[in-house]
Amino acid sequence: MIADEIRRLAAEQGAVILAHNYERPEVQDVADFLGDSLELAIRAKETTADVIVFCGVDFMAETAKILNPGRKVILPVQDATCPLAEALTPEMVREARASHPGAAVVLYVNSTAECKAEADITCTSANAVDVVRSLAEDVVLFGPDANLAHFVQQHLPEKQIVPLPPEGHCPLHVRFSLADVEAGHARGDTVVCHPECNPDVQAASDLVASTGGMVREAPHHAAWTVLTEEAMTYRLSCLYPEAAFHPVEGAECEDMKKIRLEDVLHALRTGEYEVQVEATIAARARHAIERMIALPR
Ligand code: 13P
Repeated sequence: MIADEIRRLAAEQGAVILAHNYERPEVQDVADFLGDSLELAIRAKETTADVIVFCGVDFMAETAKILNPGRKVILPVQDATCPLAEALTPEMVREARASHPGAAVVLYVNSTAECKAEADITCTSANAVDVVRSLAEDVVLFGPDANLAHFVQQHLPEKQIVPLPPEGHCPLHVRFSLADVEAGHARGDTVVCHPECNPDVQAASDLVASTGGMVREAPHHAAWTVLTEEAMTYRLSCLYPEAAFHPVEGAECEDMKKIRLEDVLHALRTGEYEVQVEATIAARARHAIERMIALPR
């Protein structure tokens, strides 16, 4: 079986397979470690494996490489990108900084390495509020997700959160609507949404959480409607088979679905596609990522 061959090659090469909660079920099943983007960054920093096969999208694999300049990091397909990350350029960050002297720059890890190099600190959806709260600055340039910026602003009214760009968004998460929340409630479910969802959906949901937060909260609920990538419900169902997790039909991130088992096998056989980050950019971005990881959890 292909999964057995993947495990055999990974063991032979001292490779660790890290996968995001949104990956295809069969890729989740073959991974050594599954998690949200914060958990994966921490695991990538802590690993002693010679090779990291990263099943996710490019900014996640880049983060793993930035934290491990001496290790080989492989993304099994070349075109698994994130449209949200591509909404922000380093020039936009520099211009915003110049027009807001004294403001801090917090970038969601869903950003390019070149943008992270311009940030004071990074965050994920799991720790965005804690990261911003930890800063001395009252004005915070926050990007590239405007809905996550809104979520942080709701929790920290004492700060001024400036979204950068003003309308950066995840094309999947902004598709969820109040009708999806109502359908979940009509079924008698608890409705949970990701903070990349629009503010009206956040306000109407029972819980707003990162994918890692969903894993931690799920044991307290019998039935959930889950407003995020549908593969999350596979992850939750494996962990808590007695509960019911309902996705919204068609809620697929096409980039997260690009890696198939065949690609993981190909990656282990050929070493393709190795992730590279230019050394000066990596050093500056590492500072922002490590500052995030060093915060108390
Ligand atoms: P998490 O922080 O929950 O892993 O979310 C990552 C992501 O890219 C959501 O679209």
